[in-house]
Amino acid sequence: MSDQQVASAAAPIREEHNRVRVFDTTLRDGEQSPGISLNRQEKLEIAQQLARLGVDIIEAGFPITSPGDFEAVQAIAREVEGPVICGLARTSEQDIEAAWEAVRDSERPRIHTFIATSDIHIERKLQTTREDVIGQARAAVAQAREYTDDVEFSPEDGSRSDIQYMAEVIQVALEEGATTINVPDTVGYTMPHEYAAMFEELYRLVPALREVTVSVHCHDDLGLAVANSLAGIEAGCRQVECAINGIGERAGNASLEEIVMLLHTREPTLGLWSGIETTEIARTSRLVSRLTGYPVQPNKAIVGRNAFAHEAGIHQDGVLKERTTYEIMDATTVGLRSNAIVLGKHSGRHALREALQEQGITVDGQALNAAFKRFKEIADRKKSVTAMDLEALVADELRSGDGELQAYTLRGFEVHASTSEAPRASVVVAPPEGEEVRAESSGDGPVDAIFRAINAASGVGAVLREFHIDAVTEGQDALGEVSVVVEVQGQTGSGQGVSTDIIEAAARAYVRALSVALARAQRDADATGLPTMSEGR
Ligand code: KIV
Ligand code: ZN
Repeated sequence: MSDQQVASAAAPIREEHNRVRVFDTTLRDGEQSPGISLNRQEKLEIAQQLARLGVDIIEAGFPITSPGDFEAVQAIAREVEGPVICGLARTSEQDIEAAWEAVRDSERPRIHTFIATSDIHIERKLQTTREDVIGQARAAVAQAREYTDDVEFSPEDGSRSDIQYMAEVIQVALEEGATTINVPDTVGYTMPHEYAAMFEELYRLVPALREVTVSVHCHDDLGLAVANSLAGIEAGCRQVECAINGIGERAGNASLEEIVMLLHTREPTLGLWSGIETTEIARTSRLVSRLTGYPVQPNKAIVGRNAFAHEAGIHQDGVLKERTTYEIMDATTVGLRSNAIVLGKHSGRHALREALQEQGITVDGQALNAAFKRFKEIADRKKSVTAMDLEALVADELRSGDGELQAYTLRGFEVHASTSEAPRASVVVAPPEGEEVRAESSGDGPVDAIFRAINAASGVGAVLREFHIDAVTEGQDALGEVSVVVEVQGQTGSGQGVSTDIIEAAARAYVRALSVALARAQRDADATGLPTMSEGR
């Protein structure tokens, strides 16, 4: 009998010791991906969705790294209920202090402290000795335990560390009271059988590991992050660190949705399970993609657009006769294909509020007014507004209403494009303070022309680094969703825009990205005392 047949025959008996805790690091390791930088409101929105998804632990950030990150972690600790809220810290006193201050208001705070244990990191990066690392690990865990009884310790670059030495460091961390030991494959170098063997040896060298939670944390440099994570879990680890859509440093972290659906689909064989609400996976993936500006590749397992599409006639025929001929998972299990039409152009504010509420999005007051205005504009141009349209629209609206950001706003635009002359665009842009400015420009194409016109109106010389466009749903009247990354004075910023008109979506995305990048450049300049371009105007 196949796993699927077993699964449908009887619900498996779930034992607590076989439960794999899901530690989500989208907002920390994920946010370290090049070009991603989420503001407090965006982080909070993702954290709320992670709570709905049912992750056990949210690593909300690295509080010492910037005041913005500190505040975001603190906001998540204060507002997000359910999961443990964790802050990352190196072994320094200030790091641990900052992590604690950021997470202390959570009902379930955790401090995660780490130090490298591989010789290459100790000698070249830390420029210190093995002895000193042991001392730092001891002091850090002891300090963290003064604040909370939930302390995680990671020997960074664990998979390339001398195992005897790493075992000594882990022993020290346990003596000081660490409750979770995470052994990362920091550089994505290990292979499944090696990673499993490493854990087996660690359990032998440090028997006390059996009394705490042992965790895997794998990077995808060789495309093995999920396979390595599974190997570690099969070797006895019961926490998996992962990120939505597999985002993270370099090639990324193990992808949460892949691990969760692997455990779910193969539960009859593995006997392992997670507490994730799988039907929230697709929505979480879309939200993270939207807010980070990182598109999901079409053939990405579980959440790619084609993950449940069948192109070959033979496959289509098979699926029509019996879905399981070519599908090992049901798309509805991950929350796909639940895109019923929800609203039309005659729907009122109350109906919009209810429809959003059904999707777990609570919008009131000014935000509801703004969302309703955008909804009406879209409903006038589009026959029906679906759940996915609403999701995109509200995310777009929440972002443009972000009070933290001193943002430029697009007030209006006009574009002329033809085969006979160069495209021209004119825009009206309102700066954060002061009068609206009108400017125009030509360009290689209509999008280029409007971006140049926005640069002229704002006086900000933003340079386009990335541009992605996608349709929110299928069909000719689908909403277009544009993500751009721009660079201003060496700082990048990303922005997204949604509209039935792709030029408008592109312009909205560009204005937002420009505002984010400029704010960062300004923050850097404030730190160094240099004038910024906008001050120089
Ligand atoms: O990859 C890594 O080693 C990390 C640690 C901070 C856990 O992200
Ligand atoms: Zn990592």
